[in-house]
Amino acid sequence: DLVVVAIDGPSGSGKSSVARAVASRLRYGYLDTGAMYRAATWWCLDQHVDLTDAEGVAAAVRAMPLTIGTDPEAPGVEVGGTDISVPIRTTEISTQVSAVATNLDVRDELRRRQREIIGLVGRERGGIVAEGRDITTVVAPDSDVRILLYASEEARLARRSTELHGNASTANVEATRDQIVRRDRDDSTVSSFMQAAPGVSLIDTSDLSLQGSVEAVLDQIAS
Ligand code: CDP
Repeated sequence: DLVVVAIDGPSGSGKSSVARAVASRLRYGYLDTGAMYRAATWWCLDQHVDLTDAEGVAAAVRAMPLTIGTDPEAPGVEVGGTDISVPIRTTEISTQVSAVATNLDVRDELRRRQREIIGLVGRERGGIVAEGRDITTVVAPDSDVRILLYASEEARLARRSTELHGNASTANVEATRDQIVRRDRDDSTVSSFMQAAPGVSLIDTSDLSLQGSVEAVLDQIAS
C-alpha cells in the first residue's frame, strides 16, 4: 500500500534536509514542493514575464516544462532540459518567490502537478515524503503521516546563516534575519505556522540535530 508522509514547516525548520534523509532511509520517493515554486519563479524571470502581471505569470507557469527529480539521493530540477538546481537557490529567486507563490492560479497548477507526482512516484516506490508549506493541509490532507516541523526564529536564523555563509556569526545571522523574516511575512497569506492543523503532529527541532530530527520523524511514521 502507498504510504504518503507530508511534512510542512517554515524556512530554516530543516524540513528539506529532514524529509530527504527520511525518504532515503525508507527508500521512498521525495518531493520538494518549494523547489517547484522556485522553478516557477526562475522560469517567469527567464521568460521576461512581469511578476506583477498575475495572469501572465499564471499562463507562463501552466506552460512551464518542469521535470522535478524525486530520487532523494539526487533530486534535480530541470526546465525544458536545463538543470536549474543551482540557480533556483540564489538570493534573486529567494526574494521574489513569494510573489509567484501567492498567485492562486499558480498554486492551483502546481498543487495539481504535486498530487499527480505523489500518486505516481508513491505507487512506484511504495511511498513518498512530500514537503512544503501546505502539504499537510491542502495538497495531501489525507496523508498517512502529517508533520509540522517547528523551530524557534533563533534556531532557524542560525541554520540558514550556516547554510548560506558557513557560520552563524552575529553579522551573518543579522543578514539572514532580513531574508527569513521578510519571506515569512510575504508568505503569510500562503501559510501560517503559529499552530499545527488538527491531526498534524508538531515536532520542535530547535534543539535537535539533523539526525535527531530524522529519528523523531521516523518514530512518528512507525507509531
Ligand atoms: O526552504 P525554504 O524555506 O527556503 O523555502 P522553500 O521550501 O524552498 O520554498 C520557497 C518558497 O516557495 C516559500 O517561501 C513559499 O513562498 C513557496 N512555497 C509555497 O508557497 N508552498 C509550498 N508548498 C512550498 C513552497
